Amino acid sequence: MNGRAAARTAWPVVAFAALLFATYHRIDLTIVRATGVPLDVVVPIIAFVGWAVGSLAVVRLIGVVIWDRVGTRGGRRPPRLLVQLSSLAVFVVAGVVIATDVFGMSLTGVIATSSVIGLVVGFAVKSLISDTFSGIALNLDSGFAIGDFVQVISRGIPGRLIGRVTEINWRSTHIATPENCVLVVPNTMLSESMVLNLSRPQIASEFEQVVVLDFEVPSDRAVRVLTAALQAAALDNPAIFDTKARITETSVAGVHYKIKYMLDPSRFAPGKAKHLIFGHMLRHLTAAGITLAHPKQDNWLIEGGPAHFRAGSAALRGNLLAQVDLFRDLGPEDLAMLTDRMQEQYYRPGAAVIRSGDAGESMFVLSEGLVSVRIAAAEDEVDVARLAPGDFFGEMSLLTGEPRSATVVAVTDATIYEIRKDDMAALFDRNPGAAEVLSKAAAERRVLSSAAVLKATPQALEAEKASIAGQILARMTKFFGGRRRRPVPA
Ligand code: CMP
Repeated sequence: MNGRAAARTAWPVVAFAALLFATYHRIDLTIVRATGVPLDVVVPIIAFVGWAVGSLAVVRLIGVVIWDRVGTRGGRRPPRLLVQLSSLAVFVVAGVVIATDVFGMSLTGVIATSSVIGLVVGFAVKSLISDTFSGIALNLDSGFAIGDFVQVISRGIPGRLIGRVTEINWRSTHIATPENCVLVVPNTMLSESMVLNLSRPQIASEFEQVVVLDFEVPSDRAVRVLTAALQAAALDNPAIFDTKARITETSVAGVHYKIKYMLDPSRFAPGKAKHLIFGHMLRHLTAAGITLAHPKQDNWLIEGGPAHFRAGSAALRGNLLAQVDLFRDLGPEDLAMLTDRMQEQYYRPGAAVIRSGDAGESMFVLSEGLVSVRIAAAEDEVDVARLAPGDFFGEMSLLTGEPRSATVVAVTDATIYEIRKDDMAALFDRNPGAAEVLSKAAAERRVLSSAAVLKATPQALEAEKASIAGQILARMTKFFGGRRRRPVPA
C-alpha cells in the first residue's frame, strides 16, 4: 500500500475509533452542557456521523484487505465494477441502519418504501440496470480484460469490429478501433455477442484471407508466388510472422488459396497488415503474369480474356520485361530479341545466384520469389537489399567487367532470367537510354552498399552518386569496346 492509500484508509478508521471512544465517555452530555442543544438532537447527529464515517472506514478497509490483494495476486487490477458494487452494498446497509436506528423508521417500512422506489426507478432505467448486470457478468466471466484485442461478432454491429478494450464501466465497454476512434458498446449488447479474444492465449493470433486464381495457374507456382509475397510482407513488418499459403477449396470461380499469417495487432493494425500483404501479393502476381480469377461470365465480354501466361513462355518473359524500369521503353523488336535470348533459371531457398568476387558477364531479372543481396562486412555478411519480382541485379559486373560486388541468395523458391553481356551490348547499340538507366541504378546501389552512406550528408550522397555514375559509364564504354556512339551525361 502506498502512502496516499494508507492516508485515505487511516483517517476514516481513526475518526470512527475516536467517535466510539468519545461516545463511551458521554460526549453527548458534554456537548449538551456546552451548547445547550437538547439531547434528543445531539444523539441522532452523533449516531448519523458515526454510521457514515464507519461505513466509509469499512469500504476503505475492504479496498485494502480484499481488492488490493486480489490485484497483487492476479497481476491485474480487480474489476472496477465489482469494487464499486461492494462499496455500494456497504453504503446501502449503512443507509438502512441510519433510517431505522437514527430516524426511528420501521425496518418493514424502509424495505417497503425502498422496494416501491426501486420498482419505479428500475422501470425507468431498466436498460441501465441490464447494462450494469451485463457489466458484472462480463467482469466475472473474465473472457477479456482491459488491454486485450477483441473482435466483436454481432448482428447489431456492422462489419468485423476489431479493437483494443480500453474501459469496462457500469454501462458500456470502450473499444479503441484501428481508425483511432473509441467505440462505446453497451454491455447488454456485448454480453449477447460473440467476442473473439485475439490476445489470448498469446498476444498474436492467426489471420487469413482468400485469393482465387484460375485453374490454368499451376498450383505449385501459385503457392510459390504467394509464399514469396507473404514473406516479403513479413520482412517489411515483423509484427507479421509464420506466413503460409495453401489451397483451401475449388469452385466454379477457380482455385481458392488461403493465405494465413500470425499478427500481433498491438504492434500493427489488422487493416494495415492486410493492405501490406495484398500490396505485395498483387506485385508478385503481376510480375509472374498471374491475374486474380475473373467471374467466368466476363470471359465473353473481355477482349482476349484474362491474361495468364504459362511459366517459361515468351509471353511471360515479355510481360516481365515490360514491368522492369530498364526495359520499359523498348520497342517490340528489342523486347522480342531479349525474350528470345534470356535464359530461365530456377533456385531453391538458400541457393546462391551469384557470389561476391566471382567474374560475371551477365545480369538477371527476377520473375518469381525473393532474393537478398549480401555484402561482406567486418565479421559477417550483411543484407543490403531484398529484391522482388520485376527487379534486376548483376548489372554492375555486366557494365564494368569488375568482379561481382555482392552475393545474391534466393530467400524463397525463385525463378530468374539471365541476360548475357552480348545481348545487352546489342540492346545498348539500339537503345542508348537503357545504358543510362542501368548505370544510374548501379551507381545508386553502390552508394547504398558503401558504409560511407551511413555518415554521408544528402549533398555528399548526391555528389558521390554522380561521380560513381560517371566512373561506371567510363568503365562501361571501355568494357563494351567503344560500341556506344552517343556520349551520355553522368
Ligand atoms: P554485381 O556487382 O554484378 O553482382 C552483385 C549484384 O548485387 C550487383 O551487381 C547489384 O546488381 C546487386 N547489388 C549490390 N548492391 C546492391 C544494393 N545496395 N541494392 C540492390 N542491389 C545491389
